[in-house]
Amino acid sequence: MSQTSAANVQDYLDQGIRACWYPVLASWEVAQQPVGITRLEQQIVLWRDQQGQVHALEDRCPHRGARLSMGWNLGDRVACWYHGVEVNATGVVTDVPAIDNCPLLGQKCLQSYPVQEKFGAIFLYFGVTATEEPAPLSFPPELSDEASYSQFLCTASWHCNYQYALENVMDPMHGSYLHASSHSMAEGDRKAQMSLQATETGFIFKKNEQSGVNFDWVELGVSGCYWMRLSIPYRQRFGPGGHFWIVGMVVPEDRDNCRVFFWRIRKVQGWQRDLWRFMYRNRLEALHWDVLEQDRVLLENMSPNARDKEYLYQHDVGLSHLRRLLQKQAKQHLAKLAAQQEQQAQPA
Ligand code: FES
Ligand SMILES: [Fe+2]
Repeated sequence: MSQTSAANVQDYLDQGIRACWYPVLASWEVAQQPVGITRLEQQIVLWRDQQGQVHALEDRCPHRGARLSMGWNLGDRVACWYHGVEVNATGVVTDVPAIDNCPLLGQKCLQSYPVQEKFGAIFLYFGVTATEEPAPLSFPPELSDEASYSQFLCTASWHCNYQYALENVMDPMHGSYLHASSHSMAEGDRKAQMSLQATETGFIFKKNEQSGVNFDWVELGVSGCYWMRLSIPYRQRFGPGGHFWIVGMVVPEDRDNCRVFFWRIRKVQGWQRDLWRFMYRNRLEALHWDVLEQDRVLLENMSPNARDKEYLYQHDVGLSHLRRLLQKQAKQHLAKLAAQQEQQAQPA
């Protein structure tokens, strides 16, 4: 079977597309203690040093494989709970306290992950190869223009493969059905013709005849991370700021679980920002959780291997376009890996 056969490509994608940054945790989830997580089937330990900088390493003690996340945060390094081996943020062993002159000392034993903390989330870079330079990371203006926009991050673990969570957002029509009884998606046509439009970083998938009524369009962008953006009209009584923006990202945990990140955003400044933030916390957040729960329950109960037996129609063009885009990337990544393996196999 060739490296880039359909089965290999799907297998690679099921684990998680690489060569990109992913949000892995909300900032508030990494405090004093080291934290152990699984992302793209990798076990990873994260901790904060005295300056508040987050570090991320393979979560495996080089001595006997205990999880470093069960050990101690020593600032610029972590210590294993089992026998005290210390590893710094670059994955180099800095102390083996139980014996003198241990050959492990000074060796780089663990992979470290590039880290950036942005908009209340911790982003790690997952390269195709362990040594590649991380891609530049940028965000849509609804996140990066913090003077104009105000956001709340909401994150949750879902028991489904991340591709289902991505495809769910690339399917605006579900708003009028799955969320028909919600506070924000009860209005508008329940039938539509839809079309694709290319953008600089990806594409928009939208209803042709209706805009500004319901969940009428969605955009996928790739700018060092895969993000999705949409806006939903808000009733006047939900306070200042016009449309409600959502920027979403999804990180695979393993083949059957993912973590979703949704930033909920409005364009508000000054006292209007304070009012909207107060309203969001006290009233709107619960309503949005209800909507998100509908997505979660639906996706977690999809038929087993649903993607193997589907009949797609015109409204699924957005998600099939996304699939093709991911498959194209995946083929390039597998070819890069194959080339690297071939190079390593050659005698020096
Ligand atoms: S397993 Fe970590 S120090 Fe022994
Ligand atoms: Fe939804």
